[in-house]
Amino acid sequence: MRTQIGIIGAGPAGLFLSHFLHRLGIESVIIENRSREDIEQTIRAGVLEQWLVDLMKATGVGERMAREGAFDTGITLQFSGRRHHIDFVELTQGKGVTVYAQHEVIKDLVAARLKDGGDIRFSVSDTALHDLDTDKPRITFRDGGGKPDELVCDFIAGCDGFHGPSRQAIPHSAIEEHQIIYPWGWLGILAEAPRSFHELIYSRHDRGFALLSTRSPTVQRIYVQCDPHDKLEAWPDTRIWQEMQARFAFPGWTLSEGPIFQKGIVGMRSYVCDPMQYGRLFIAGDAAHIVPPTGAKGLNLAVADVVVLSRALDAWYKKHDRTALDCYSANVLPRIWKCERFSWFMTTMLHQNPADSSFERHMRLAELDTVVSSRAAATALAEIYVGLPLD
Ligand code: FAD
Ligand code: PHB
Repeated sequence: MRTQIGIIGAGPAGLFLSHFLHRLGIESVIIENRSREDIEQTIRAGVLEQWLVDLMKATGVGERMAREGAFDTGITLQFSGRRHHIDFVELTQGKGVTVYAQHEVIKDLVAARLKDGGDIRFSVSDTALHDLDTDKPRITFRDGGGKPDELVCDFIAGCDGFHGPSRQAIPHSAIEEHQIIYPWGWLGILAEAPRSFHELIYSRHDRGFALLSTRSPTVQRIYVQCDPHDKLEAWPDTRIWQEMQARFAFPGWTLSEGPIFQKGIVGMRSYVCDPMQYGRLFIAGDAAHIVPPTGAKGLNLAVADVVVLSRALDAWYKKHDRTALDCYSANVLPRIWKCERFSWFMTTMLHQNPADSSFERHMRLAELDTVVSSRAAATALAEIYVGLPLD
């Protein structure tokens, strides 16, 4: 089998890349090791930045998101028994964020790719990359039935997440890696309950961080800081609601409860691989960088990478100009580092770090106090939260 761009991974990075390339008249095949049902049901991120919402609408995959997503005009920061509204619309001249689940974005993209004649191979195994430093790189894999297959490409896009084979195919000596692993995780739940508040609440509390988000008028998404090694059995529903009620407590307000139908625990890390290319392999999204979710940046950054990559590939096919491909890492890394900085800042400011001294705890509270009392500091937070401009 031959194609122009072989894409490994049907997450947001791989699917958006294939969608953008199709619109530019460039052919691609996506290789995905999970089933369609599995990728369409995995619960992950929820916040879409303004430019991404606009881009989804402009490229024909935003219709359901515009109908079913919740446009949020700001967020609330809660600490020391008080709540403070950060008004994105006012601080960023009309911008906000849309809360629409990542797996719904995935469903919309898979449907659009298949409608447009796209080629997605689900449930493959044994994915391996070869000949990256030649002009005919190859991907070998077993198809859904276990039969060996091979895809010969002009270029390979490694969009296979943090644990995928693409980054690992780059010789160790060709990259530098930068990483922090945080000593806490998030327990996330989905509950059938009405929305308790009109926007997201990020709460710093002595018992640990908590985040109130939403999925629909009848389904709510809530996270609490926990030990990353906790087992789900340590978190029966009664304990979850107790912690959530305590960490969001506010006079005259109650958190709506309801049946919990999904629970999961995720660890937290910051990670960057530099450069994000080797020969004819380009890596994008979680394959190249990880942010802790407190800044709501992971999904948005993955799409920003592939916008740049699709334009660089377009320049190659239309003008035979390799400059933009050669500069891919240099062009995307400044945005990635700014989002890494923001995600690290939100994470350390809002979580209880068991290793923090009392001095450091005061620093976190002073940071929060600065954000809510200085218009300049609130604007800086709002500008990055709603999304840095793409160009
Ligand atoms: P992924 O979404 O990871 O997609 C990679 C795809 O590659 C997957 O479908 C995978 O099955 C496939 N793949 C892997 N290996 C192979 C292989 N060998 N062969 C073929 N295919 C392969 N971000 C937030 O902003 N907020 C959140 O609340 C949040 N929660 C998260 C929870 C979890 C459990 C995880 C893992 C991430 C979360 N994130 C969150 C981050 C966000 O979801 C990611 O940044 C986003 O999914 C990145 O998209 P991606 O396409 O780069 O990678
Ligand atoms: C979510 O709704 O899943 C969500 C929202 C904001 C975050 C992280 C996750 O910072």
